[in-house]
Amino acid sequence: MIEADRISKTYARGVYALRDLSLRIDKGDFVFLTGPSGAGKSTLLRLLLRRDVPSEGQLIVGGRNLAELTPRQVQAYRRSLGFVFQDFKLLQNKTVLQNVALVPRVLGMPPSQQQRRTFQVLKWVGLQHRMSAYPLELSGGEQQRVAIARAIVNDPVIILADEPTGNLDPDLSLEIMNLFREINARGTTVVVATHDRELIRRVGRRSVTLNHGQIAELA
Ligand SMILES: Nc1ncnc2c1ncn2[C@@H]1O[C@H](COP(=O)(O)OP(=O)(O)OP(=O)(O)O)[C@@H](O)[C@H]1O
Ligand SMILES: [Mg+2]
Repeated sequence: MIEADRISKTYARGVYALRDLSLRIDKGDFVFLTGPSGAGKSTLLRLLLRRDVPSEGQLIVGGRNLAELTPRQVQAYRRSLGFVFQDFKLLQNKTVLQNVALVPRVLGMPPSQQQRRTFQVLKWVGLQHRMSAYPLELSGGEQQRVAIARAIVNDPVIILADEPTGNLDPDLSLEIMNLFREINARGTTVVVATHDRELIRRVGRRSVTLNHGQIAELA
């Protein structure tokens, strides 16, 4: 599903964010990316999101080299992904329902289906009773659940998350991870960047430790 073949990413002044990194993530895997601040976790996620391309090497997803996609294909590729950020990135002037419903609408799903699917995922993350609330009226864990609902409403083949529990306490973090585990159990590939080793231990999934842009440990 995801294959990084000796990828490097350098920024200006020759800073290596990733250096000669090779990694394979199979369909249906659940993988943590961990390592200290500046190790390259977000950079790798950014490449997977096709926000950027490697300076060297190849990043292949679903058999396609991401650097070779046309702008149109990039758009279609991004639509096949779900992404969750540390700071939720919800639209504050829209309700929970509107935040989630925006995705299928933009993707052109038929209106009747849009609504059914939106209700379905909000129920699934346990927020059906908060659908008309605004993000700022919700707790951190609830906001992150809205963000997860939004990320999965489109049935992505891969979910990418960058420090999704960075703003949450340990119990809520585990709750969010349980949602990711359930998403994964349905066959979606899940890649989560986190510096929280205790959380990784509690979730008990494969982890890739980066250090200075290289793989320091596979566990
Ligand atoms: N846009 C950029 N321009 C220049 N250097 C960058 C840029 N983005 C990241 N870097 C550098 O690349 C390296 C990897 O950064 P990255 O954000 O991938 O680390 P990270 O593992 O996600 O860290 P954190 O745990 O703090 O989020 C760091 O040295 C960082 O300073
Ligand atoms: Mg980061």
